[in-house]
Amino acid sequence: MSQSTFAAVVLAAGSGTRMKSTLPKVMHPIAGRPMIAYPLDALTPLTPAAMIVVVGPRMSEVARVVAPVETVVQDPALGTGHAVRQATRALNGRLAPHGAIEDVLVLYGDTPFLATETLSRLVTERRRTAAAVLVAGMRPVDPGPYGRFVLAADGALERIVEAADASPEEQAIGLVNGGIMVIEASRLEEFLDAVRSDNAKGEFYLTDIVGIARRKGLSCRAAELPAEELIGINTRAELAEAEALMQRRLRRAALDAGVTLIAPETVFLSADTRLGRDVVVEPNVIFGLGVEVGEGARIRSFSHLEGATVGAGAIIGPFARLRPGAILEEEVHVGNFVEVKAARLGAGAKANHLSYIGDSDVGARTNIGAGTITCNYDGFNKFRTIIGEGAFIGSNTALVAPVKVGDGAIIAAGSVVTRDVAPDTLSIARGKQVDKPGRAAEIRDRLRRKN
Ligand code: UD1
Ligand code: MG
Repeated sequence: MSQSTFAAVVLAAGSGTRMKSTLPKVMHPIAGRPMIAYPLDALTPLTPAAMIVVVGPRMSEVARVVAPVETVVQDPALGTGHAVRQATRALNGRLAPHGAIEDVLVLYGDTPFLATETLSRLVTERRRTAAAVLVAGMRPVDPGPYGRFVLAADGALERIVEAADASPEEQAIGLVNGGIMVIEASRLEEFLDAVRSDNAKGEFYLTDIVGIARRKGLSCRAAELPAEELIGINTRAELAEAEALMQRRLRRAALDAGVTLIAPETVFLSADTRLGRDVVVEPNVIFGLGVEVGEGARIRSFSHLEGATVGAGAIIGPFARLRPGAILEEEVHVGNFVEVKAARLGAGAKANHLSYIGDSDVGARTNIGAGTITCNYDGFNKFRTIIGEGAFIGSNTALVAPVKVGDGAIIAAGSVVTRDVAPDTLSIARGKQVDKPGRAAEIRDRLRRKN
């Protein structure tokens, strides 16, 4: 069956009060990506006929993150039923029976573990069973804040009672609302019109449409799914649990793809981290967004990488920091306490100890001595340092940008280089050494007599 005749509505307008945050709940990241990106990713392969994200009035950054997906503003946020109402207005005329959209799939923006295949199955299932409303349920260890499913004797769904409104008997129900609903599009507006706000929270609950449909003599169904897929995030504690679960999945995927993680539980990955075959990641490494590591590279302990490309066979760390725009070609060595930002290091280049290389281009096989700093910033502007191939930069050199060092040049240790150095040139830019034989002993004698 073609899936293209359903509309998807993702709710993200809630204030997220329980997060106690100025950031909208759906912008809180999981594995580096805002939570809202996950349900949208799950939906996209199904090419819904329309996709709408309902946002709050001060959520322009949510709109920016979800673009080009359309957003509608719900102001004020009067509940999930009210939120879907704003979306149906935007779908004006496109819902059956006047339009081609047969189903409306409603998801919550705070439910990041949904799989595409599940969403597809739920739409198919509603059509197959001709239920007016199909809702995905789960049995979490702690049903706590979730809406409870009240089932009829034959297992059909009778109504959903929100936790805040549930009687003690209803509180004890283990099957709860996982937050995915598929609704017969031709009836959705009629259901929403009947939703009232006379409940514990004074909100228009979307979940009330089940009882409303039943009172109209229509059938509703519950589809049980693994709890892991339906976890909703309302608090920082749940956010931390979701992060842990996402990390376990990402590590597992890396291991399955031929990456060695010596202590997987200590390595933190981003949703977009790409690690090649036979990459070895030592314990306690953090991958921020936008990192790609080529085959056989080794990332040693306590390194932090973000927005960086690491070539095949490179060795990074321990204690290395790769910042956005670091491009290390194959067999590069970046050692302890070396920071690289917006810089390319050509194949086989080495910076093994205590350096800052920023806004730079370093040629192949060049050796950057311990303590070398590219002085790229004058407090107002950034400047580039260009170093050729096969050069040798002595320890504790300051390269004051903008500056160029030619191929094969040697810079003496302790130099402060302020002018360009031609290829194959030895450049010494430091104070001359002055030796005074015997003077040290004299000074020591004098001081001893005084004290
Ligand atoms: C909701 C369900 C509950 C279910 C749980 C699953 C309702 C009334 N309750 O509860 O049955 O078990 O999700 O995770 O639907 N939102 C809006 N506008 C609003 C209110 C909320 O867009 O006016 C959005 C929120 O941003 C959020 C989603 O809807 O992404 C769900 O809202 P939330 O407050 O988290 O509902 P829960 O209490 O988790
Ligand atoms: Mg929620």
